[in-house]
Amino acid sequence: MACLTSREGEVCLARPTDGSSLLVARLLEAAAQGDEGLVRALIQQGADPLYQDAEGHNALMQAAAHGHEGIVGLLLEAGVPWNAIDKEGNCAGDLAVAAAHESTAEMLLEAGMRAELVLGALERKLGGQPPAPQHQYLQQRLQYDAEERLMDAEDRAVMMAWEGPLMEAHAHAICSSGGDVLNVGFGMGLIDEAIQRRRPRSHTIVEAHPDVHARMLQQGWDRKPGVRILFGRWQDVLPEAGLAFDGIFWDTFSEYYEDMQEFHALLPRLLKADGTYSYFNGLAADNAFFHMVYCNIASAELQQLGLETEYVPLPIDCSNPKVWEGVRNRYWQLDTYMLPVCTLTVTAGDSGPPAAE
Ligand SMILES: C[S@@+](CC[C@H](N)C(=O)[O-])C[C@H]1O[C@@H](n2cnc3c(N)ncnc32)[C@H](O)[C@@H]1O
Repeated sequence: MACLTSREGEVCLARPTDGSSLLVARLLEAAAQGDEGLVRALIQQGADPLYQDAEGHNALMQAAAHGHEGIVGLLLEAGVPWNAIDKEGNCAGDLAVAAAHESTAEMLLEAGMRAELVLGALERKLGGQPPAPQHQYLQQRLQYDAEERLMDAEDRAVMMAWEGPLMEAHAHAICSSGGDVLNVGFGMGLIDEAIQRRRPRSHTIVEAHPDVHARMLQQGWDRKPGVRILFGRWQDVLPEAGLAFDGIFWDTFSEYYEDMQEFHALLPRLLKADGTYSYFNGLAADNAFFHMVYCNIASAELQQLGLETEYVPLPIDCSNPKVWEGVRNRYWQLDTYMLPVCTLTVTAGDSGPPAAE
């Protein structure tokens, strides 16, 4: 999947198609009215099921908005993408949710998961590479600006102060046992400050960017109680460290869903039994339904690794345009943050690798 994990603000969109005939107008109307026979006949007569009108609506959106599940199934089978969006940025799933057609929304959620998982598997098979290698980010100069943001050289926000309450909640989740805690990605140190307030037995921080690392040293993080800093990419410094933790948080920048999957694959080794894992959940966070699909995909994949995920909804409001002034990547658009709390469920007797201290 080519989706970025979080902060770069990109979504996977379907393309609109052109279509001029009367047939397509009738197709949209028949889909809205629930006339499955007519929808089928119109497609057989050549109406393009992918057609989107001037508002960006397609037949799948019309059927979903009215809860016509038979037609939704038919159009998905005909190849209409689950994630086409209209001019207002809504996909068929958003419209089904808004109209409280729960089982229609569930159908589209499953279609979305299936499509994204197949796409991901295909990309892995074809050896797809992320388009922007991370070393470009790691070589850029970063700046901690007066608006309480960490910005890169291309005006992308790496971290922003409005996330403070979220970081507090993540710290609460991963420090629940008071044991050995790992944070991957220091940024502005918001979660690390919240972790320090909870006085865990040990507090390991992994950070790859030299400017951020310099800031950590300048602020004396290497001298704080229980703190160990591992400077380098987590890919390079963690697998060989031979450490295990009671709580882990992952929040990096300029990495892709594939990187996150790679990190998740380490969790059975990095987490102690009953340990808690959490991550910054910015997956496809500019559309509520896409976000829901990715939350489901992530929890299904974590389950295969032995982790049970619960999403705790937290209200969040960062809609004030001032917050995003001068920021190129508006990476958050939603009003609810789904905080993942993932617990490793290990069978008795499986003690894992040695503890962090
Ligand atoms: C979004 S910020 C983390 C913000 C942090 N949660 C906070 O509370 O301030 C992401 C951080 O991850 C670091 N990072 C990016 N890729 C990394 C990698 N592969 N390994 C370690 N750190 C990485 C970035 O340099 C940046 O400091």
